[in-house]
Amino acid sequence: MRRVLFAHATESFQANESSMALAHQTTMRSLQIGQAASILGECHRTVALPTSVHIQAFDDQSHLVFLHATYVKQIYYGDLSTLIDVSTTSPVASDFDALSIDSARLMDRLMSLAEVSPIAGGGNCRLALTDEDRDGRDLVVSWMRDLNMDITIDAVGNIIAYWNVGSGAPVMTGSHIDTVRTGGKFDGTYGVLAGLEVVETCQRNGYIPSRPLAVGIFTDEEGARFAPDMLGSLVYVGGMTTEEALDITAIDGPRFGDELVRIGYAGSAPCPGPVPHSFVELHIEQGPLLEANNVRIGAVTGVQGISWQEVAVVGQSNHAGTTPMSLRHDPTYVAAEIAVFLRQLSARFGEHQVCTVGKMDVFPNLINVVAARVTLTLDVRNTDETLLQQAEQEISDFLKQIALAEGVTITTKKLARFEPVVFDPRVIDIVESIAKQQSNTVERMPSGAGHDAQMLARVCPSGMIFVPSVNGISHNPAEHTDTDDLVAGANILLHTMLTLCATEIA
Ligand code: GLV
Ligand code: MN
Ligand code: MN
Repeated sequence: MRRVLFAHATESFQANESSMALAHQTTMRSLQIGQAASILGECHRTVALPTSVHIQAFDDQSHLVFLHATYVKQIYYGDLSTLIDVSTTSPVASDFDALSIDSARLMDRLMSLAEVSPIAGGGNCRLALTDEDRDGRDLVVSWMRDLNMDITIDAVGNIIAYWNVGSGAPVMTGSHIDTVRTGGKFDGTYGVLAGLEVVETCQRNGYIPSRPLAVGIFTDEEGARFAPDMLGSLVYVGGMTTEEALDITAIDGPRFGDELVRIGYAGSAPCPGPVPHSFVELHIEQGPLLEANNVRIGAVTGVQGISWQEVAVVGQSNHAGTTPMSLRHDPTYVAAEIAVFLRQLSARFGEHQVCTVGKMDVFPNLINVVAARVTLTLDVRNTDETLLQQAEQEISDFLKQIALAEGVTITTKKLARFEPVVFDPRVIDIVESIAKQQSNTVERMPSGAGHDAQMLARVCPSGMIFVPSVNGISHNPAEHTDTDDLVAGANILLHTMLTLCATEIA
């Protein structure tokens, strides 16, 4: 393997026996090209090209050492007499064959992030754009800085950290660190922190990919506080305007844009964001299939379609003791009928149809009052778009019918609607073959949950890697994945990203 020494942001770097200690990288990064060239020129050779400066130092074997800086566009490695430009040379597979992630470091970061806003039972509550979300962001951003990455924050708060090496568009990974109210500690966080682990593994082993690597934290993937879900990545790819997103209202009242400013994450990078070379997201399965089939890795083929709506049922509030049953216009009864209808529809439509009434608000919510109104949410998903549309139509017909029968008014509001997504076959193939090369059992499977990768798939070749969820439990503090599986998944992410760097894919 070619060795390129990498200086970390926290370390001063002793260049060679001439004992010029280069300043912290953070200082270097703020230098202008000319300044960097002249400062280094006192001690070391610098090569100024029209658009870049080469910053060179040497390790104690007189090997040329690469120092990463924002302005470095070329990477050289070699000894003094034979400099090899590796910035334009695609690494061959054997260059990174031996690399593997540091499991202790990955688990340390996962457990440290899980300490931000813990809840009973071992999970987390970091609803999007709350103080808790901000605290999680601050911690992960500090790790991105430790890795000397270039951090951008865009107009909807997406954080993208770049390790700007090589050339061309970056191979991107990432996920989210917001959670549902009763979330687990791996949903989303695993994909982000494994991405940082990929970067750190390369840096510490002196492996420079031929393209930049990027790690994203996408805002409000869960959609639990601000619908729709995958909001940040949707805006990142241009599927919703920034203005529209900033105007969305939270379930607890505030406006998205105001909350973003309040937590200090209203950034200046524009949306849509830069299109990556390719995108791959690592995630826990959040379902029972891998475990049931005794398979370690899922090569994800796509994501099922999602339809979210809010249904408001308004009836006649009245006395619970005096109002005859025949004269009631009871929204609570109607809400219950809707939930039963969804369960029966799922049974009729087959195993790929899932329906959930996850939120119900009753007003005035008192024991002896026939309610005035009930607001409930419907989450309806299918891998087949035609069936999903059919389910939506049947639900709409049922709402009209039950409103008439009970004498209530029903209004609906669309919260999210995403068609099923098919991932890029080349990315799926790479994930599957790397999983096998690393001696894992692997199967192809669709995702039941929504993910940021489904949005990135609109603009670049994308895919996902799944690892098992114990007992198929997720969106629950009991969510768990065994360490061996987390490590296996992160190693597949590492090799998938590095393979993508060396793959022409358009
Ligand atoms: C996102 O987690 C979803 O609801 O699928
Ligand atoms: Mn997730
Ligand atoms: Mn989730």
